[in-house]
Amino acid sequence: MEIREVAVVGMGTMGAGIAEVFARAGISVVAIDVDAQALSRGMAALDASLARAVSRGKLTSSEQAQLLGRVRAAAGFGDAAGADLAIEVVPERLEVKRQIFAELDRVCRPDAILASNTSSLSVTSIAAGTKNPGRVIGLHFFNPAPVMRLVEVVSTVLTADGLPGEIASLARRLSKTPVQVSDRAGFVANALLLPYLNHAASLFERGYATAEDIDVAATAGLGLPMGPLALLDLIGLDTSLSVLDVLHTEFGGSRYMPTPLLRRLTEAGRTGRKAGRGFYTYPAAPQTSDNGNEPAAVPATVTLVGLGDAAETELASMIAAAGLNVTRNTGHPTDLVVIAAAPERPVLPEALAAGRPGQAVGLHLAGSGLAEVVRTALSTEAAVAAADALASRLGLQAVHSPDRPGFLVGALLYPHLADAVRMVQDCYASAADVDTAMRLGCGYPQGPFHLLDKAGLRQALDVLRAMYAEYGDPAFAPPPLLAEHAVASLGFTSAP
Ligand code: CAA
Repeated sequence: MEIREVAVVGMGTMGAGIAEVFARAGISVVAIDVDAQALSRGMAALDASLARAVSRGKLTSSEQAQLLGRVRAAAGFGDAAGADLAIEVVPERLEVKRQIFAELDRVCRPDAILASNTSSLSVTSIAAGTKNPGRVIGLHFFNPAPVMRLVEVVSTVLTADGLPGEIASLARRLSKTPVQVSDRAGFVANALLLPYLNHAASLFERGYATAEDIDVAATAGLGLPMGPLALLDLIGLDTSLSVLDVLHTEFGGSRYMPTPLLRRLTEAGRTGRKAGRGFYTYPAAPQTSDNGNEPAAVPATVTLVGLGDAAETELASMIAAAGLNVTRNTGHPTDLVVIAAAPERPVLPEALAAGRPGQAVGLHLAGSGLAEVVRTALSTEAAVAAADALASRLGLQAVHSPDRPGFLVGALLYPHLADAVRMVQDCYASAADVDTAMRLGCGYPQGPFHLLDKAGLRQALDVLRAMYAEYGDPAFAPPPLLAEHAVASLGFTSAP
């Protein structure tokens, strides 16, 4: 069936974005919201988004007018009668979604396709409550919908043959890339993204690192477009919490159990950008780097300790290139002992062996231009400040991490990659589909499997083993498929 008219039910942020996507593809849109205020806010958001595109020269004024002319606001479901496809974009509550599908069942043509943009709820249970479950499908967009190129096309055991393919073609007409999956909580992208975001929030809650350092670890350390806490603010803490609750019910385990802070912030109304406050405040307060403290002096001579590996050699040459002296003599009374650190090994034993653990901190180069400054239980404030000054002299951005497996970047990354491997191990999605979903749905420059191959399977395995040994949490236990690939030296993205 050719899709000429679409009804978008629910004109919140996502609804307005999805309406824009259809209108941009030349499809007429009926924008429905029973809440008159929400409807006018949604139409205003659509207006603002198109105005921004015009001001950036991405759209002409006449295209803007044509686009707006394709979108008709409606306060009731009756206007969905002529739609070839109706998509529901309302908050993640099954009973609300079921009511909407009952209304759509009543007003839409019997051959109309009914889609849900649910992020995590069971499309099957939504479909099962309708008159024609074969015409019901999941069509999951990503925030901001006009920008992110992924849509997940979710079929259930009740979906009519051929419909997923038809919807995948529609997605391509919208200039999106479809990934077709079956109905499992969180599908591909949210089932991987949300536990990673939850883990980041829990590291912050437990004082493992500051919010800024966690976000910089993800952007500068992993090359991701946004840090996890900023992304939680973008998605909305309430939405994230609902998705995690559903994931936790389906899969169990600590990765999906919402960290208490997420629930508290949501209860407090600090739901992120849309509320003006979440982990951060919006609009952002002007940044000031002046914390009132005198910056520490860069030590003229640095004692460097390492295993003689590539990490140590790289640090040694960087320090020398910055015009500082490097000594390997741990007896030399320098102010700073730098341990060339690796995320699978603790720093403290090497700091103790060096004989001056107070002056010793770990330094680990991660990503492009990032240094993880690892403080042990014995590192003094002065040594940490000297390491910060050293990182700055080397042109590196510094984040602070405790001396725990993975440090900060690895503690965020490797459990996330293990989740991706588990998804492939469970035969839910291929490595290629996982990579596509995370690149196009979440703006990753490289998908998890490319990141894994780049980081090295052995390193991933070693860090996960160290995390599992230290915390005893089965979520950190390396999946057997990862161990098999590591032993066989078989990458996930290269042909065998
Ligand atoms: N609406 C419409 N367009 C927007 C937008 C918005 N809210 N925000 C940004 N844009 C557009 C800008 O206009 C700009 O367009 P042009 O290139 O055509 O000028 C483009 O996006 C890039 O924007 P910026 O230059 O302002 O900012 P950026 O380069 O930092 O990119 C970003 C912003 C696209 C949001 C990027 O940071 C990103 O990819 N972040 C990750 C987002 C993500 O992970 N989304 C998925 C969340 S999970 C989800 O949504 C699923 C769920 O069910 C919970």
